[in-house]
Amino acid sequence: MIRYLDSAESVSPDQLRDFFEGWPNPPSAETHLDILKQSYAVVLAKDDETGMIVGFLNAISDGILTAYLPLLEVVPDYRKQGIGSELVRRMLDQLKDFYMIDLMCLPELQPFYARFGMPAAHGMAVRNFDCQNGRPG
Ligand SMILES: CC(C)(COP(=O)(O)OP(=O)(O)OC[C@H]1O[C@@H](n2cnc3c(N)ncnc32)[C@H](O)[C@@H]1OP(=O)(O)O)[C@@H](O)C(=O)NCCC(=O)NCCS
Repeated sequence: MIRYLDSAESVSPDQLRDFFEGWPNPPSAETHLDILKQSYAVVLAKDDETGMIVGFLNAISDGILTAYLPLLEVVPDYRKQGIGSELVRRMLDQLKDFYMIDLMCLPELQPFYARFGMPAAHGMAVRNFDCQNGRPG
C-alpha cells in the first residue's frame, strides 16, 4: 500500500533510491534527503511493504505569496499508477492559500499538469550543470 507523507523527518537516505533518472550528475541520497528536509513543503509516497520512498514532490517558498515546485519524480517501477497525480493534488492542497504556484516542465508534460487546472506559462532558466549534484566544487 502507498502511504503519503508531508514530512521527510522520519526518512533516512537508504529509503531514497532510483531517483534522478537520466541526470548525469545526480544528488546523492544524503543530499536528496537534505533537499527534502530544507524544502518549504514536501509530499512523499512511501511503499509500506518495502519501506522505500517511491515518489516525491517538493516546494520552495517565501512563505507568503509565492511557491515554486522544482522536483517531481516517481521511480520507474511505480509510474502510471496515479502516484504522481496524487503527489500534485496533495501539494496543491497544501499550497492552496498562495497566490503564485509555479513550475517548469517539458512541453510533453503540460497535459499532465493541465489536469490539475494549471494553465501553461512561459519561463526562462539558468542551469549550472557543475552544481547538479548539489555539492559544487
Ligand atoms: C511525470 C511523473 C512524475 C508522473 O508520475 P506517475 O506516477 O506515472 O503519474 P500518474 O500515474 O499520476 O499519471 C501518468 C500520466 O503522466 C503523464 N506523463 C508522464 N510522463 C510523461 C512524459 N514523459 N510525456 C508525456 N506524458 C507523461 C501521462 O499523461 C500519463 O498519463 P497516462 O497514464 O494517461 O498515459 C513520472 O513519469 C516521472 O517521475 N517522470 C520522470 C521525472 C519527470 O519528468 N518529472 C516531472 C518534472 S516537471
